[in-house]
Amino acid sequence: MKIINLVGARPQFIKAAPISREIKKNKRIKEIIVHSGQHYNKELSKNFFLELNIPTPKYNLNVGSHDHPTQISKIILKLVKIIKYEKPDWIIVYGDTNTTLAGAIAGNRSGIKIAHVESGIRSYNNDMPEEINRVLTDRLSNVLFCPTIKATNNLKKENIKDNVYLVGDVMFDNFKYYIKKFNSNILNELKLKKNNYVLLTIHRSQNTEIEKRLSNIIYCVNNLAKSIKIIFPVHPRTLKYIKYFKIKSDKIIFVNPLSYKKLITLLKNCKFVATDSGGLQKEAFFAKKQCVTLRNETEWPETLEFNNNILCPPDNRKNISLILSKISKKNYNIKTKKTFGNGNSAKKIIKIIEKFKT
Ligand code: UD1
Repeated sequence: MKIINLVGARPQFIKAAPISREIKKNKRIKEIIVHSGQHYNKELSKNFFLELNIPTPKYNLNVGSHDHPTQISKIILKLVKIIKYEKPDWIIVYGDTNTTLAGAIAGNRSGIKIAHVESGIRSYNNDMPEEINRVLTDRLSNVLFCPTIKATNNLKKENIKDNVYLVGDVMFDNFKYYIKKFNSNILNELKLKKNNYVLLTIHRSQNTEIEKRLSNIIYCVNNLAKSIKIIFPVHPRTLKYIKYFKIKSDKIIFVNPLSYKKLITLLKNCKFVATDSGGLQKEAFFAKKQCVTLRNETEWPETLEFNNNILCPPDNRKNISLILSKISKKNYNIKTKKTFGNGNSAKKIIKIIEKFKT
C-alpha cells in the first residue's frame, strides 16, 4: 500500500511525525512525504523535520506565500501530477490549513482515498479561513479521524456518519513521546526562571491583520510585561503587521519562531500561556498549564473545562487587561482528563487505514 503523507505548515509537521513513526514500523506500507512549501522559513519548517526525525520529503512543491485561492490552486496543480505519477492508494491530510484543503481536492479529483486527521473540529466562525478548510475537507474525506468525542458529535450534526473514527489526538501522541526526551537550554539562554514568565503567541489573520485587535493585544501584554516577563516567539506575519501599524511593544521579549523542543520546554516551565493558536491551546492542556485564548471562540472547547483555558475576546482592552492581570496573580491547580486519548492515535489510524475496505 502506498500513502502520500501531506504536510505544509508548522503544526502539520508535528501531527505527521507520529504517523510517519508508525508507518516506519509497518513493512506493508510505503510512505511518500510531500511538503507543499506553504511554510518555508527554516524556523517554521526545516527545524521541525530535523528535531522530530521526519524523513526528508520526496517532493517539495515550493508553493510559498500567496493569497489563499492562488496558494490552494498551486498546491492542487502540482499535487495532481505527483498523484498521477506515484499512483498512491491514500493521501493523509492534517488539520485545517490551505495545504489540507488542497490535498483533499487533489485526492478526490484524482480518485484516491483521503484520510483526514483532526476531523470534526469546528469553531463555528466562518470568517476563519481554517473553518472553511475544515468543513470542506471533512466533506471530501473517505475516512474521518476525530481527536475527541465532541468532534464526532459535530460530524453527526452535519449528518456525516460513515467511516468516522474516534482515535484521540496525534498531537498528544507527539507530546507524550517527546515530553521527557526534550531538555532544551532555552531557559538559560533567555535568562528565565521557572513559573516566572508568560509564553505568548499570536498569528491568526483575524488578530494580526486587524489593527485594532493587534494593537489591543500588544498594548495589554506590554502593560503586563511591567510585572512579569513576556516571551513572544513571533510569526513573520505578526512581526510584519506590528511594524506596519507602528505598534509600541518595548517591554515584550521578542524571539524568532522556536523549534518544537524549545517551545515545549518554555511551555513546561511558564506561569501561563496567552495565545490564539489552536495547537498551543491543546499543548497547554497536555502540560497542565493555564491558557488564555485571545479569541472570541475556540475549536477546542474541551480545554475550557475546569477553566484550564479562558477565552479573552481581543476587541476590548479593559477586558483583556483584567483577564491577564487576574491570571498572572493566581496560582492555578490545573486538572485534566484524558480528553485527547492515550497517546496511541497514530497506531489506531494506520491500523484502520490498512484494514479499510470500500
Ligand atoms: C497557517 C495556517 C494556520 C496555522 C498556521 C501555523 C492557513 C489558512 N493557515 O497560517 O491555520 O495555524 O499556518 O503557523 O493555512 N510567512 C513567512 N514564512 C513562512 C510562512 C509564512 O514569512 O515560512 C509569512 C508570509 O508573509 C505569509 C504569512 O506568513 O504571507 C502567512 O503565512 P500562511 O502560510 O499563509 O499562513 P499562516 O499565518 O502561517
